[in-house]
Amino acid sequence: MAIQLRPLIAILLFGAALTAAAPSPKCRCGPAEPCWPPEPAWNALNASIDGNLVAVRPFASVCHDPTYDLDACQIAKRMSNESLWLSANPGAVQSANWASLPQRNETCYIDTHKSLPCGQGRISLYSAVVRKTEQIQAAVRFAKKHNVRLAIKNTGHCFLGRSVAPDSLQILTHHLKEIAFVDDFRPTGSLNKSCGSAVTIGAGVQLKELYTALGKKNLTAVIGASHTVGAAGGYIQGGGHSPLGTWKGMAADNALEFEVVTAKGDLVTANSFQNPDLFFALRGGGGGSWGVVTRVTIRTFPDPPTAIQSLTISSVNSTAFWAFIEAFHVGLPSINDAGGSGYYFITPSLNVSTLSIALFFAGHQNGTIMASVLDPLINLANETFSPSSVVALRFQAPGFRHVIDQLLPGDSDTTGNIVRIGSRLVSHKFLSSRPGAAKLTSALQNISTHFPSAAMTGHVVSGGQVARNSNLGVAVNPAWRRTVTHLVSGVSWPATAAVEEQREKERGVTEVMVPMLAGLEPDMGAYLNEADAYERDFQKSFWGGNYGRLREIKRRWDPESVFIVRAGVGSEEWDAEGRCRLW
Ligand SMILES: Cc1cc2nc3c(=O)[nH]c(=O)nc-3n(C[C@H](O)[C@H](O)[C@H](O)COP(=O)(O)OP(=O)(O)OC[C@H]3O[C@@H](n4cnc5c(N)ncnc54)[C@H](O)[C@@H]3O)c2cc1C
Ligand SMILES: *[C@@H]1O[C@H](CO)[C@@H](O)[C@H](O)[C@H]1NC(C)=O
Ligand SMILES: *[C@@H]1O[C@H](CO)[C@@H](O)[C@H](O)[C@H]1NC(C)=O
Ligand SMILES: *[C@@H]1O[C@H](CO)[C@@H](O)[C@H](O)[C@H]1NC(C)=O
Ligand SMILES: *[C@@H]1O[C@H](CO)[C@@H](O)[C@H](O)[C@H]1NC(C)=O
Ligand SMILES: *[C@@H]1O[C@H](CO)[C@@H](O)[C@H](O)[C@H]1NC(C)=O
Ligand SMILES: *[C@@H]1O[C@H](CO)[C@@H](O)[C@H](O)[C@H]1NC(C)=O
Ligand SMILES: *[C@@H]1O[C@H](CO)[C@@H](O)[C@H](O)[C@H]1NC(C)=O
Ligand SMILES: *[C@@H]1O[C@H](CO)[C@@H](O)[C@H](O)[C@H]1NC(C)=O
Ligand SMILES: *[C@@H]1O[C@H](CO)[C@@H](O)[C@H](O)[C@H]1NC(C)=O
Ligand SMILES: *[C@@H]1O[C@H](CO)[C@@H](O)[C@H](O)[C@H]1NC(C)=O
Repeated sequence: MAIQLRPLIAILLFGAALTAAAPSPKCRCGPAEPCWPPEPAWNALNASIDGNLVAVRPFASVCHDPTYDLDACQIAKRMSNESLWLSANPGAVQSANWASLPQRNETCYIDTHKSLPCGQGRISLYSAVVRKTEQIQAAVRFAKKHNVRLAIKNTGHCFLGRSVAPDSLQILTHHLKEIAFVDDFRPTGSLNKSCGSAVTIGAGVQLKELYTALGKKNLTAVIGASHTVGAAGGYIQGGGHSPLGTWKGMAADNALEFEVVTAKGDLVTANSFQNPDLFFALRGGGGGSWGVVTRVTIRTFPDPPTAIQSLTISSVNSTAFWAFIEAFHVGLPSINDAGGSGYYFITPSLNVSTLSIALFFAGHQNGTIMASVLDPLINLANETFSPSSVVALRFQAPGFRHVIDQLLPGDSDTTGNIVRIGSRLVSHKFLSSRPGAAKLTSALQNISTHFPSAAMTGHVVSGGQVARNSNLGVAVNPAWRRTVTHLVSGVSWPATAAVEEQREKERGVTEVMVPMLAGLEPDMGAYLNEADAYERDFQKSFWGGNYGRLREIKRRWDPESVFIVRAGVGSEEWDAEGRCRLW
């Protein structure tokens, strides 16, 4: 759902310069510099990881001269929107724009003319396609020793381009697929304290795989609404929102233990009993900043009966449409207080605008609760719009897994497009206060005027247990605890767009779109996994009052900044590509 509409959401490439400075110890080593590891060093790395090192080219290179290959290109074109295929390919990410590097005028789009050369862009030069923890340790030690930029790619879903980096060595975690259930999980070092039923997953496990494994046991867990986002990588380390969040908290709230390869190449366990500072940071401090997570153990729960409501309205009358958007936002705090979670998609248009809502009430056997909080809204829709413009469905599922079967048919998300997003967390308090919903609606309307093709996605994934967990002591953005909806919009541009046109679109996100929402509530923030890649004041937006502590933990565990990602903890000391230190 969020998934289907995301491709409609649009983007551009930003002006953060990749400095062409002379080689200096302040910078990572580049392939043209004398410090770059010589061939024998790469061969030794390859041997130490059992021959799993591959030289990487952008996946679309087979569609460009001089490496054009008709058959391979046809396959690549067919697969270029299949997130499962893009996950596994070391030369691909899910938002095609992050593979390019406008500062060097390097692109390699699948659908540009074959005569255009294929530039390496931000795609890593080598990939350690790891199968074992020891191989991760060897790759980290190599990168540290040779001062080579490291990139961790799990699935490549990051909207902020954190799984790519120019001139880097990639660690591809895709093949680490272990899923092990335990009825009675006892964290290492806990003196046998039980945390109840849990599942330990390898770094490469993807959401649909985990949902399927959980479903076979009539269990569920707090994970997201995507087929191929990774369950153990950027998702959970960034906080992880879920349609089950209102019921049981953020994904990171439900993490019990991490196994991590640190910047030194050591393998450590982080939980409440061992390395609690690292455990704090891994629960919301953001992927790619602390080490390479090899395994995570998360709580599991008996699969709850779930009541479901969907409502779709379409309207040719834009006044009536926006009035209904406002009424929906006025009602949203009560819906969320009653246990409702879900998603809504606003697709404004000069012709026919649509609002499509799907709400879930986990743990509810019947529609009683939904009738009390949703009937007024559906009545309003009935009164405002013609009967053929309102479709409302209400039903009960014996388990949340039935919702997942409907939400996530098949095994791939549709990705591969050019997309840059902007977002904001909107508080329960703001929408509950009188002018709140009206102001928010005015901002959304203004966004639709400035960005005519922009759709907007609302994520109702907090409140309830997310709010109740406000004192849990995890790095998750404290703003999440006050949030009632996480709103995302975005921009796109054609693969053939000139760099200036791209920059213009990108600036629109940072300078127009995000400020329109951010201005409503300066004390809120944004979700670090689904936000503007060039978010202003990102430390405050993404972590609020937790940033200071995170910065200290970062110094302790990664003093040499082996792990740097865009708008990640400690990244302010580096240029936008994580190549050179700024001071
Ligand atoms: C279609 C789609 C649906 C989505 N749905 C949801 C949703 O329902 N809920 C939600 O909260 N978010 C959702 N997201 C956002 C998602 O959480 C982020 O894109 C997240 O970064 C994906 O993590 P990944 O590991 O799969 O991706 P990657 O892009 O591979 O990695 C993301 C970041 O994590 C780091 N990383 C990855 N693996 C590791 C590891 N093992 N150790 C250390 N660092 C690591 C990477 O270096 C990078 O910085 C969605 C995104 C998309 C594109
Ligand atoms: C690594 O070794 C394997 C097996 O020997 C070989 O097939 C592969 O080409 C090597 N990778 C690189 C980058 O040389
Ligand atoms: C960028 O590369 C394209 C394709 O190679 C070329 O046509 C264009 O002139 C280049 N632009 C600049 C500014 O160098
Ligand atoms: C840990 O607890 C379990 C269940 O309570 C018990 O069976 C086991 O003997 C305990 N182990 C130790 C080492 O105390
Ligand atoms: C799961 O629930 C179904 C239906 O309630 C039941 O038939 C099945 O045996 C259960 N499976 C497991 C593994 O508990
Ligand atoms: C559009 O909706 C508004 C508000 O419901 C109403 O006042 C107006 O008459 C409608 N316009 C048309 C052309 O139907
Ligand atoms: C929307 O309306 C405009 C102006 O009336 C028209 O040009 C355009 O084709 C319409 N678009 C769609 C998708 O109907
Ligand atoms: C509906 O479910 C709620 C719990 O979700 C329960 O308290 C209530 O009694 C149920 N009502 C009916 C009519 O079954
Ligand atoms: C809304 O209208 C539909 C038919 O158009 C009807 O089935 C439904 O009960 C109405 N909903 C409410 C809450 O009045
Ligand atoms: C599929 O990917 C191509 C390029 O990679 C992109 O141009 C197109 O928009 C994508 N299609 C969808 C439906 O996302
Ligand atoms: C939306 O734009 C109008 C007209 O420019 C302006 O008066 C209003 O303050 C804006 N609303 C928000 C919330 O930005």
